[in-house]
Amino acid sequence: MAAKIQAIGVCTGGGDCPGLNAVIRGVVKAAIGDYGWRVVGVTNGFDGLIWPEQCRELTHDSVRGILPRGGTILGTTNRGNPFAYEIEEEGKKVKHDFSKRCMENMEQLGIDAMVVIGGDGTQSIAHQFTKIGMKVVGVPKTIDNDLSATEVTFGFDTALQVVTDAIDRLHTTAESLHRVMIIEVMGRDAGWIALHSGLAGGSDVILIPEIPFTIENVRDKIQERERRGSKFSLVVVAEGIKLPAKDAMGKPIPEAKPGNVGNIIGYALREATKKEVRVTVLGHIQSGGSPSPFDRILGTRFGVAAADLIARGEFDRMVCLRDGQVESVPLERAIGVYKTVDPNCDAVRAARGVGIAFGD
Ligand code: F6P
Repeated sequence: MAAKIQAIGVCTGGGDCPGLNAVIRGVVKAAIGDYGWRVVGVTNGFDGLIWPEQCRELTHDSVRGILPRGGTILGTTNRGNPFAYEIEEEGKKVKHDFSKRCMENMEQLGIDAMVVIGGDGTQSIAHQFTKIGMKVVGVPKTIDNDLSATEVTFGFDTALQVVTDAIDRLHTTAESLHRVMIIEVMGRDAGWIALHSGLAGGSDVILIPEIPFTIENVRDKIQERERRGSKFSLVVVAEGIKLPAKDAMGKPIPEAKPGNVGNIIGYALREATKKEVRVTVLGHIQSGGSPSPFDRILGTRFGVAAADLIARGEFDRMVCLRDGQVESVPLERAIGVYKTVDPNCDAVRAARGVGIAFGD
């Protein structure tokens, strides 16, 4: 039986990602237009439920023109779990459980159910809230595409476009100056962005967390290209790679962190090949900016589907894409299960087939 709903809340949590506004717009338009509900925009993750004065009504007017906009009109945060919210008090960080306060504020705001748009961390908090009575529907987001419950997440396609464009640009400068170009890309512990952009950009080497590599093997690939007349190489490096213990000279390699792995690989390859090496760390330009058509469409489909789930009274679930269709899974089964690159998948095979090396 359909749940009696008069108003819903919507929030975005975790890092921002292209397509978030498309989801918000989809939720708002379907909620108001199809179901006649009121929509409350909960700002900065769950913060708006802790401090309800931050919340604001979302209308057709509030979502006009936001489809092509990057970021999220609601603001977001990747800190601030209401069950253990850290606040600085007299110079010390103290954790507070604000979950009850969130439930009370939700009632005061008249919110009957929440659409929670976010990655794994945010969905885990959403699931925790369901245990104390919150009616929640989740919408997965991440540029990393590493959530196993859904075939693909919005944001990934836009990130790929940004990285592929960067590889194309670096290609021409690498070729002109006979250099080795290292491009560090995001993705956390999964190599999806690196693998797909490396394929799309025609890179020569792709280093991903799922395939162990050595600097010697990468050096050999660069030198082999050199012998065959290609005096430049493009190496795509996923930020989450596990670095080998030693470089090609047997010297220990420093500890890697996102943002510095590209430089570590660059330094090691400069030493090993004696070639000019340049490093580009693409960073947050991958998660910013206008979403691609694919991400706008997927975001809209997810947003409308989330409203539909609420209308059907199907809570504690997350929308997902399976075989190209929008479906839903129980939140419990969706959280904490990551999807990484299978080293034997066809995309890796295709990359190897066109001569891309993985350094293994
Ligand atoms: O999970 C998305 C992601 O963009 C990762 O690819 C990246 O490592 C991380 O978030 C960046 O987080 P922050 O914005 O906190 O630096």
